[in-house]
Amino acid sequence: MTTKQQSGARTGAAKANPTLGAQDALSLLIADHREVADMFEQFKNLGDRATASKQKLVQKICKALLIHTQIEEEILYPIVKDDVKGEEDQVDEAYVEHAAAKDLIRQLQDMSPDEDLYDAKVNVLSEEIEHHVDEEENEMFPAIRKSKLDLDVLGQELAQRKQELQATL
Ligand SMILES: [Fe+2]
Ligand SMILES: [Fe+2]
Repeated sequence: MTTKQQSGARTGAAKANPTLGAQDALSLLIADHREVADMFEQFKNLGDRATASKQKLVQKICKALLIHTQIEEEILYPIVKDDVKGEEDQVDEAYVEHAAAKDLIRQLQDMSPDEDLYDAKVNVLSEEIEHHVDEEENEMFPAIRKSKLDLDVLGQELAQRKQELQATL
């Protein structure tokens, strides 16, 4: 599953399964955005010497971002690019912004908090994500909401893939 051809959200062939979580796609993604923003906020409040807490928190942020970007890239963006009018350029920009974020994430995963530029990299990642989230929530998501996509089915596809990735990453 998870390829756009098979997504029931596009074809209308699938009905949302009421026994699975009832979160629509955009609510799920927005909840992810808030969770990561909260963790970046927690990072700012940690003291300079809280290296163990910093590292633990940053690993958590990196994992959450890797899962979130992957479900968007595998499931959401291909559908939006094909099916949501006028959003092609926005989706292309989103892929580029994800790639930049993933580059910083990989660097941070291999660093320890007492290394030079660690805090700077976390802060730049936080700013980049804030900008990216702002574009998604204020431009791309409103366009998705107006489209014919079934957001409940899409939400279940995203939730299922998220669960798989949480178990493997
Ligand atoms: Fe994104
Ligand atoms: Fe997102």
